[in-house]
Amino acid sequence: MNKEKHKVILVGDGAVGSSFAFSILQSGGVDELVIVDIKKDHTMGDALDLEDITPFSGSATVRTGDYSDASEAQIVVITAGVPRKPGETRLDLVEKNTKILESIISPVVQSGFKGCFVVSANPVDILTTMTQRLSGFPKERVIGTGTSLDSARLQVALAHKLDVDVREINAYVLGEHGDSSFANFDEAKVAGEAIRDIQNITDDDLLELESEVKKKGGKIIGYKGATFYGVAMSLGIICKAILMNEDLVLPVSAPLDGQYGLKNIYLGTVSIINGNGIQQVLEVPLSEEETKKMQHSAYEMNKVLEEVKA
Ligand code: LAC
Repeated sequence: MNKEKHKVILVGDGAVGSSFAFSILQSGGVDELVIVDIKKDHTMGDALDLEDITPFSGSATVRTGDYSDASEAQIVVITAGVPRKPGETRLDLVEKNTKILESIISPVVQSGFKGCFVVSANPVDILTTMTQRLSGFPKERVIGTGTSLDSARLQVALAHKLDVDVREINAYVLGEHGDSSFANFDEAKVAGEAIRDIQNITDDDLLELESEVKKKGGKIIGYKGATFYGVAMSLGIICKAILMNEDLVLPVSAPLDGQYGLKNIYLGTVSIINGNGIQQVLEVPLSEEETKKMQHSAYEMNKVLEEVKA
């Protein structure tokens, strides 16, 4: 990896993309951010607007560009895609966003890009799997935001319910970033105590929270038309972990290779992320019931992948 200059290419300058740019520039880990989008005027405006934060946040160059800029980059972030409309599921987007993805991966690979792809476009597990297949990149150099966002939402929901600081909550959502995801309550902890042992939260409460978390993206879209800060922050910390070679532990869309009895698919599980991309895919110890939920997510994803012939 080029240690001198940390260069990131952002493909897709919509609400998620520009929120990510705002976040990563503040993290101090990036020297050059190049924004690529078909909406040239908007992107130029965003690059100019974003460079104005650099005197406050830490020096970096922000500019517009094209896929050839990927040749020297460490990371290509893909947020480009048609977003969900109210009432749509993430899987409804698959056809349109697959075409967009194809038009991105090929020129990025042709540029000689040797870094990591980080994908947040939906349906993220499908598009992350396809990014790896289309690029032919080593699996550890393709990462999707996966259930990092759902896990953040679960932590927020539990913190509200138990009236504790959100940083006391250690709980993950695994599987698809979408309708077949599930909360890994068996391993969840609050201030080190197993959530199943906490008196003032029942199994019914947990099921209700899990369902709220699943619906939260749709709820936000219903109110304001899109979700962007949560996923943008997830993209930001994943990129920072790659650029700064941190061993970040986070549930992301990761390449399964035998974990949970599954392979050849990206799904949300806990992983260690550093300068190599996904340094390690961890298999969370799951009960039989939760293992079945993970396998069900994979089944749903594989059905879609077969349809798009990825
Ligand atoms: C959400 C979108 C990013 O859940 O899928 O907010």
